[in-house]
Amino acid sequence: MSISVSMNVNGKAVTQACPANTTLVDLLREKLQLTGTHVGCDTSQCGACTVHMNGRAIKACTILAAQCEGAEITTIEGLGDADNLHPMQEAFRECHGLQCGFCTPGMIMSAVDLVNREASLDETIIREGLEGNICRCTGYHNIVRAVETAARKMRN
Ligand code: FES
Ligand code: FES
Repeated sequence: MSISVSMNVNGKAVTQACPANTTLVDLLREKLQLTGTHVGCDTSQCGACTVHMNGRAIKACTILAAQCEGAEITTIEGLGDADNLHPMQEAFRECHGLQCGFCTPGMIMSAVDLVNREASLDETIIREGLEGNICRCTGYHNIVRAVETAARKMRN
């Protein structure tokens, strides 16, 4: 069965026809060509598919597009661009918070949500807050440094 879903994606109103069982991540990647959102596991474990729904981080492989009717969705493409990086993107670059980059879009979206909802951060809170995002390359140390750095900039 095909349905029509309407939502706001990165500040633009979008109405898209899709099968009723289409996940949000498939809608973003396959229908809207927003391929910055990655699929690592497709079973809600790795966090590579993390986007923001109404300002909070969610795993886009775990929610149907139909459940996002009327929602505000932000993907990594909506956070910043090459000429105007978000402080979190800038900090990941400065602190070498990535290697292969596969986890990075989801890690950044989760990290921005973490900074927005935690009044103060330390290493333990950052590590626990990013538990749902798996990185196979970095060992996490530079990711923690990047989040600390970005949090200072975002709070200023
Ligand atoms: S692809 Fe969604 S959590 Fe791994
Ligand atoms: S940088 Fe490679 S998985 Fe995180």
